[in-house]
Amino acid sequence: MRLFLVAAFAVTLAAGATAAPSIEACTGCHGAGTSQSEGVPSLGGMPAVYVTNQLFMFREGQRKAEPMNALAEPMSDEDLQAYAAAIVALPPPAYEGEPGEPARMARAEAAIGKHRCASCHGRDLGGDKGIPRIAGQREEYLGRTLSAYKTSERAGFDPQMNEVAGELSAAEIADLAYALARRAPGPAKP
Ligand code: HEC
Ligand code: HEC
Repeated sequence: MRLFLVAAFAVTLAAGATAAPSIEACTGCHGAGTSQSEGVPSLGGMPAVYVTNQLFMFREGQRKAEPMNALAEPMSDEDLQAYAAAIVALPPPAYEGEPGEPARMARAEAAIGKHRCASCHGRDLGGDKGIPRIAGQREEYLGRTLSAYKTSERAGFDPQMNEVAGELSAAEIADLAYALARRAPGPAKP
């Protein structure tokens, strides 16, 4: 399945999709704004600058995660921007599960205050420019990526997030991922 999608995408690029890229190969994994796939982040309503930066880092091998390194590898700078613009124009994700358990949500709110997440990610945690929207993101993706910043397995475009994550305990990461996934994402800031 994965290999097939990667191959289909390469064909799309070869056909010269620079101006108005077909994002069908992307939405097959990422969904139409809301990802339904384990481990795959939702990208609807993300700031375009952040998404462009991440595609750049995937292409340059500065952020390592298959299949994204292979997918970004053939992209020109214009492609990076065009794919980012197209994918962030999809609607922000909607959480449809059970509401959060109050005690856990309160613990996470305390961690959000203590580590000043909103000072960078915005009051609604919706991000802006180079800073991602984290409200409404998938729980298991959030947990994994925060742990990866902590160990520096994931390098940020700048080191700010690695510094923040270095101070988070494993329990805080689990609570934050749980609560952020259940937060309304707020309006897009493309
Ligand atoms: C085969 C599945 C698959 C396809 C197809 C795919 N992605 Fe991804 N994408 C992923 C996974 C998995 C991750 C998470 C990587 C990680 O673990 O850090 C990801 C991560 C990303 C990220 C980082 C998001 C963030 O919040 O930091 C961006 C941006 C992205 N993909 C854009 C795209 C675009 C644009 C396309 C189409 C050209 C695409 N992806 C196609 C699976 C896919
Ligand atoms: C000093 C500013 C700053 C603070 C404070 C901060 N962040 Fe970040 N955060 C960033 C930046 C910048 C990025 C993008 C880094 C990159 O390029 O990978 C980021 C990325 C992230 C990501 C990756 C999202 C994705 O889609 O892959 C998550 C999750 C995240 N931050 C959560 C948090 C949480 C939770 C807190 C509070 C505990 C927090 N951040 C505090 C600046 C900050």
